[in-house]
Amino acid sequence: MKILGIETSCDETAAAIVERGPDGRGRILSDIILSQIADHAAFGGVVPEIAARAHVEALDGVIAAAMREAGLGFADIDAVAATAGPGLIGGVIVGLTTAKAIALAAGKPLVAVNHLEGHALTARLTDQLAFPYLLLLVSGGHTQFVAVDDVGRYRRLGTTIDDALGEAFDKAAKLLGLGYPGGPAIEEAARAGDPTRFALPRPLIGRPEPDFSLSGLKTALRLAAEKIAPLADRDVADLAASFQAAVVDVVADRSRRAMARFRDTHPGLADPALVIAGGVAANRAIRASLAEESARHGFRLVAPPPRLCADNAVMIAWAGAERLARGLVDALDAPARPRWPLDELAHPVLGEGAKGAKV
Ligand code: KG4
Ligand code: ZN
Repeated sequence: MKILGIETSCDETAAAIVERGPDGRGRILSDIILSQIADHAAFGGVVPEIAARAHVEALDGVIAAAMREAGLGFADIDAVAATAGPGLIGGVIVGLTTAKAIALAAGKPLVAVNHLEGHALTARLTDQLAFPYLLLLVSGGHTQFVAVDDVGRYRRLGTTIDDALGEAFDKAAKLLGLGYPGGPAIEEAARAGDPTRFALPRPLIGRPEPDFSLSGLKTALRLAAEKIAPLADRDVADLAASFQAAVVDVVADRSRRAMARFRDTHPGLADPALVIAGGVAANRAIRASLAEESARHGFRLVAPPPRLCADNAVMIAWAGAERLARGLVDALDAPARPRWPLDELAHPVLGEGAKGAKV
């Protein structure tokens, strides 16, 4: 079966076509991503209204390019999948409505995909990974450990009680004058820096629950920077390196706890795997540390290529294929959802609704 996937929940306008064979293996037929980074850079972050308008303007062309690259027409596809949440609601509406229009016009089923499910299932496309496995999802909007037991069966083991990890990188970079997006800029600056010069905190290390807290680290970085302002290049590099070293330690410690939890809830698993996904998974220091930690705890680390870790439409098409293969399709009144936890039963860590943590 061939699935068209559409992703518009943040600042990438993306469309892709994935084919899923009878053996359950996937093949990418096309993969188009139009980044809006230049539209938002001046504001130091994604501006929701600008993003929604940019999606409206670009999406038709991006879908046409994906169809062209795959050499297919709408009559040749088996379903249309689109991100229906969570995300910036204006953009989600643009993508989902477009998918509904195509589904209606071409007489194809619609699959309304949870963006997080897209991240969660990517490793099954890239590495033919079998259920269950442990996922660490770290992006600009999300930071969570999830036990991925089956399509549609997810248990959240831990989450952030304040900022997402990518958000922390972005805020740290802004503070150091490094521009947007912050993750790659911090990683680059840190290469020349001394990670031991500033003793930044490692929040929640040692706690049994595999949760994260990142806002205190960001504040500590700001205070350290203010103390020595104005900052020379050397200072920026040392601050970036010290910040990244703290993040690496936190991720390693939290992952140890999550792996222990996962073993407890999935006893007797012969070949447990830890999958990392989300834009932050591109960070080489984090990857290297996780490779070490997972090996030490008998887990195989699965890290899809960075292009498929960050936001893309291949993962939405693939999640759509996995759902369609199980007969899971949606009606044309499927809602766009700004918030949509993967684990619907997970308790909010802080409050609910607008006061809730970014889970
Ligand atoms: O998954 P993604 O492309 O978009 C969503 O947020 O859903 O993730 C983007 C985030 C940004 O916060 C960016 O700063 C971060 O991932 N990021 C990184 C790196 N590359 C991207 N963070 C740390 N190190 C990197 N190399
Ligand atoms: Zn994402």
